[in-house]
Amino acid sequence: MIDRYCVFGHPVTHSKSPAIHAAFAEQTGEAIEYTAIEAPLEDFAGAWRRFVAEGGRGANVTVPFKEEAFRLCDTLSLRARRAGAVNTLILGGNGLSNELKIYGDTTDGVGLVRDLKRHGVTLAGARLLVLGAGGAVRGVLEPLLAEEPASLLVANRTAAKAEALAADFRELGEIAGGGFDAVVGQFDAVINGTSASLAGDLPPLPEGLFAPEATAYDMMYGAEPTVFLRWAVEHGAQPVDGLGMLVEQAAESFFQWRGKCPDTGPVLKALRHSL
Ligand code: ATR
Repeated sequence: MIDRYCVFGHPVTHSKSPAIHAAFAEQTGEAIEYTAIEAPLEDFAGAWRRFVAEGGRGANVTVPFKEEAFRLCDTLSLRARRAGAVNTLILGGNGLSNELKIYGDTTDGVGLVRDLKRHGVTLAGARLLVLGAGGAVRGVLEPLLAEEPASLLVANRTAAKAEALAADFRELGEIAGGGFDAVVGQFDAVINGTSASLAGDLPPLPEGLFAPEATAYDMMYGAEPTVFLRWAVEHGAQPVDGLGMLVEQAAESFFQWRGKCPDTGPVLKALRHSL
């Protein structure tokens, strides 16, 4: 039976993951099948069990199942434990019994860090601002702090959520949280992890927040630049959308499943053309 992989979501029909993983499989010569599965909202665990019974070896997990998938895992990576969510499930044995265990990881943060680096952003010693304090932001803080920025400020519409989030990660580095009114000074990279772009909204930000040559990164992407990226360009920053993060997190999942690192550049280029 061919090794099967999928992305679970709800909705999931517009997911780009099947195309990305098909390209990775072709490039690396891995014989796998990767599909999109819309799991029922009330029975993610059942959908996963059925998938495994039909040859499933691993999966990506997207909204709204990342926390439920986390609870399903027998073993978790440290970064997944810190994120409280997983986007990658890996089925494997330990060689001691026939029972297959579920291992969970989250590759979103690694994907973000790799994409920032690809765009020439030096994270070590940088002043970072991250907008938002939901699951998307929680999932990227550990890999960002591992790069040892000079400071990382989490700013959110609901200040208390940013403060609580920063407190959870304080042992890992220079991190603080607050409302948008706490955004004072200049930043080398500003990462938008709010869902404001979906509604066409812009978080209220002070005009002079970008340091010279600063990068503005939106974890969202689309055929057109987001409101945040348009605003950032008007204020002198270099804009980058989240399409590269999507491809990089997929590459890390693929590596965990198959032990091969795909070349993300051509895949990203093709995906960009298809938007
Ligand atoms: P996700 O899993 O995508 O992170 P989430 O957990 O619902 O989704 O978090 C959404 C984030 O976007 C939150 O930080 C939210 O701010 P609040 O905590 O104050 O709700 C932020 N957000 C959503 N819409 C926003 C808007 N119009 N302006 C500013 N922030 C917004």
